[in-house]
Amino acid sequence: MLALALCAGCKHPTSSAPALKPTASGTAIVLVGGDKQLGSPGSRLSQPLQFQVNDNLGNAVTGAEVEITGPKGVIFDPAQVLTDENGQATFKVRLGGISGRYELTASSRDAHGKPFSLTVAEFAAGYQEQVGYEVNEKYCSRCHDQDSTVTQVSNYDNLAVKPHSFSNGDVYNKITASDLATIITHGGPAINRSALMPPYGWTLNKAETQAVIAYIRLVSDPPYVAPGVVYAKH
Ligand code: HEC
Repeated sequence: MLALALCAGCKHPTSSAPALKPTASGTAIVLVGGDKQLGSPGSRLSQPLQFQVNDNLGNAVTGAEVEITGPKGVIFDPAQVLTDENGQATFKVRLGGISGRYELTASSRDAHGKPFSLTVAEFAAGYQEQVGYEVNEKYCSRCHDQDSTVTQVSNYDNLAVKPHSFSNGDVYNKITASDLATIITHGGPAINRSALMPPYGWTLNKAETQAVIAYIRLVSDPPYVAPGVVYAKH
């Protein structure tokens, strides 16, 4: 897993567009939408990434400059923009060619030139992780995700013991791959957890179980670092 290498602070602006002339400034950037998408490595995300710049009263600001940066290999269109009449800045994003978690940062400056920013994540998923995503959507997310979606009502609130979101790296990064495989295959009691976590050994084959584990590692925040992997310093 190359996630760490991808988000290890090496931010590269991806284009040298002509300087924009901001006519206003705000104090905060909020996310409007487009984060946490899953795409193939090197593909363009289906939804654009959208931010809004607000002033200190929470009102949208038109004409503020927003710049977006990310790890090497990510392409933004545009890379800088002025917020529109709704105070929003919209960026199309093409992911880098390596699968992993990509942290993207939108930044702007207040009236005193002091920068403020917001960082979101997108995921470049290889084949195995895509399969894992589909397994999650089909079998797991109804209990593991708190939020209901258009197509699925969450069962989370009905559970007496609460499962964790797969992106909860503080929990998931501490569980070994072999324990993950055990609880997924044999259910909660196999590792002294609640029987509300059902066994999937009859439903998922080994490849699908490994795929959902790969997906869990992909979306982990903080990122998952495989034990024993040593990263070169720049
Ligand atoms: C019917 C609800 C339900 C479904 C569906 C479900 N889980 Fe769970 N899961 C739970 C509950 C409840 C726990 C917490 C058990 C505990 O902490 O004792 C849990 C715990 C886990 C854990 C241990 C870490 C944690 O979150 O506490 C893993 C790993 C896990 N589930 C994986 C999966 C996978 C993979 C799927 C889909 C293939 C899945 N679960 C589907 C209810 C569910």
